[in-house]
Amino acid sequence: MKDLKTIRGMPDLYAEEMNRISFVEDVCTEIFRSFNFQEFRTPILENKSLFERSAGDTSDIVQKEVYEFEDRKGDLLCLRPEGTAGIVRALVTNGLDNDEIKKYFYIGPMFRYERPQKGRKRQFYQAGAELIGDPSSNADIEVIQVANLILEKLNVKAELQINYIGCADTLEKYREYLRNFLKDFKDTVDEKLYFRLQRNPIRALDSKDENIKKILKDVKKIKEFFNKEQKEKFQDIQKKLLDAGVDFIINENLVRGLDYYTGTVFEYISSELGAQNAILGGGRYDNLIENLGGKKLPATGFALGIDRLSEIINEPKQSGGIFIGSLDAESKSFAQKIAYQLRKNSSNLKIETYLGNANLSKQMKKADSQSFKFVMIVGQEEQKSLKFKLKDLELNKSFELSEKELLEYFSG
Ligand code: HAM
Repeated sequence: MKDLKTIRGMPDLYAEEMNRISFVEDVCTEIFRSFNFQEFRTPILENKSLFERSAGDTSDIVQKEVYEFEDRKGDLLCLRPEGTAGIVRALVTNGLDNDEIKKYFYIGPMFRYERPQKGRKRQFYQAGAELIGDPSSNADIEVIQVANLILEKLNVKAELQINYIGCADTLEKYREYLRNFLKDFKDTVDEKLYFRLQRNPIRALDSKDENIKKILKDVKKIKEFFNKEQKEKFQDIQKKLLDAGVDFIINENLVRGLDYYTGTVFEYISSELGAQNAILGGGRYDNLIENLGGKKLPATGFALGIDRLSEIINEPKQSGGIFIGSLDAESKSFAQKIAYQLRKNSSNLKIETYLGNANLSKQMKKADSQSFKFVMIVGQEEQKSLKFKLKDLELNKSFELSEKELLEYFSG
């Protein structure tokens, strides 16, 4: 039955996969907050024109991947394909585009109509950080440090690739050069691809098409179009990364798929993922806020693919907590009463009050298989004596506690 199927590329998330996704989100939030980034939530629906003006109307995302629809009034809306444009729109909408440096983070679903494959979904989740208002490379270093720490905490090995793509002027000159360069090969390139590359020639650089790769063997790199200041800025960011002890390589073909980038761009690549190997991407977008009608403010940031990362991390160990089983129906209410008191005392303690009807030994097995550290079974006797036998499953040791001692043991 069609209506019971999920939409292609938009799977339900549950069990171990969901645990890994939550774990990635928790680590991201913890690291973002440790750098004093503030959470920002923007709507999932935006006007499609926002992305035409930011990601660029010749970008693959806007050309082919946006989920768009007219609402009941006939306005053309879309499901957001990425988070940066929404944050910038929100800065302008809410008059937050002032000179104060701002650091925002977001976590949430994004939507791109791409061909689903390993590591690529149509609804996927991103965690992103945007640092607005600082033109210096210190801001780039800060967001790269955030990214590095998240990956370190998740125990993910990835290669940081960086490039510098100059300012809007340099990019325009380089585009013109590439357009002309490609003209000589018009007859050897697929017509549709040629047309696309004439509109957005920069994308030729990271094209996966073997013919294009061959054609571009002798093409000039963008660095050959840099002025003195741009050369120095690229040197400066490299020096600061080295000083900060951050490993990286320079990828001169790294141009990113969104049109708003200028200056430093970067990606983290994992060798564990196959074709969809970019786990995190970002860079500077010094003209975007102004282009969207706000003040001229420099900005830099990144977003990471939560789903992609969740595929290459180990499931977090969820041990801990206490499983409170019961021997009869009446004792279930008693178990709930005790658990409620424990929860009030210690909000971080995970407690399961078992509601099923399994026998004592099956309850013990459940507690063990669900990695609880403690198990306690209550019955008529415990209700009368208010003494409890608590078993530490990790140490395989049991001890008896009064109600007061039990609450004290788990307090804090
Ligand atoms: P992006 O490179 O398009 O950048 O996406 C960032 C990350 O999202 C990618 O590295 C990848 O891990 C993940 N991702 C992208 N598409 C998919 C997909 N279809 N399925 C699963 N994961 C995916 C941006 O979106 C920019 N807004 C990043 C940024 C923030 N730049 C500056 N600030």
